[in-house]
Amino acid sequence: MARRRLVYEGKAKILYEGPEPGTLIQYFKDDATAFNAKKKAVIDGKGVLNNRISEHIMTALTGIGVPNHFIRRLNMREQLIRACEIIPLEIIVRNIAAGSLSKRLGIEEGTPLPRPIIEFCYKDDKLGDPLVTEEHIIAFNWASQQDIDDIIVLALRVNDFLSGLFTGVGIKLVDFKIECGRVDEGDFQRIIVADEISPDSCRLWDMKTGQKLDKDVFRRDLGNLADAYSEVARRLGILPESGNKKAGPKLVR
Ligand code: TMP
Repeated sequence: MARRRLVYEGKAKILYEGPEPGTLIQYFKDDATAFNAKKKAVIDGKGVLNNRISEHIMTALTGIGVPNHFIRRLNMREQLIRACEIIPLEIIVRNIAAGSLSKRLGIEEGTPLPRPIIEFCYKDDKLGDPLVTEEHIIAFNWASQQDIDDIIVLALRVNDFLSGLFTGVGIKLVDFKIECGRVDEGDFQRIIVADEISPDSCRLWDMKTGQKLDKDVFRRDLGNLADAYSEVARRLGILPESGNKKAGPKLVR
């Protein structure tokens, strides 16, 4: 078989050329990084879990009419996606103060926010993905005002949907990050949700215990990351109750 053409390699994923024009294959690695890759590790099984969790969420978003890049899962670590022109922004939605917002504004982690807050960061590892305003985004032509308006609508719809999804399984959606891209549709360009939505890009706290079930487990050395992600997958019904193992046949009496 011919070797696939690598299109892009990021910290946690690789993109390969897809089977048809306008498609890509997104491969989920086991690599975990934090603090702009100053901290690194390989977490066995993380890629498989994120592939499945992102598939689950993107499929559900398609079901409620939120356009996104997911086409179908190909195997344990790969999914077929629509190619798009990635907008160089990380779009963060916050429901509860945590992480960099708590640090920046001195608000205690866990404080509910009066309304969802959207932040934009400019995607540039060399600069450490700095926080930017709409003024910067428009002035430097990263996105138009119309793009920003569309992105905000998408981000808030994703937030409403995900908050409900996770509440239903006893998890608080503290905050999350999405990325968006442009696709051509006839004479128009449309903004779609791209990249991944997984515990790598969300803060997820158990509602009863406050236990962290997201990448903060790795960032802050709080335990086993794969166990935390497996718990999220299990609650979403992606993994069987008993964990990763397939349930064996049941004895019928
Ligand atoms: P922050 O509080 O560190 O700014 O993170 C906000 C949210 O964005 C959190 O859910 C984690 C996610 N995030 C990423 O997905 N990628 C990143 O590089 C960073 C810094 C945060």
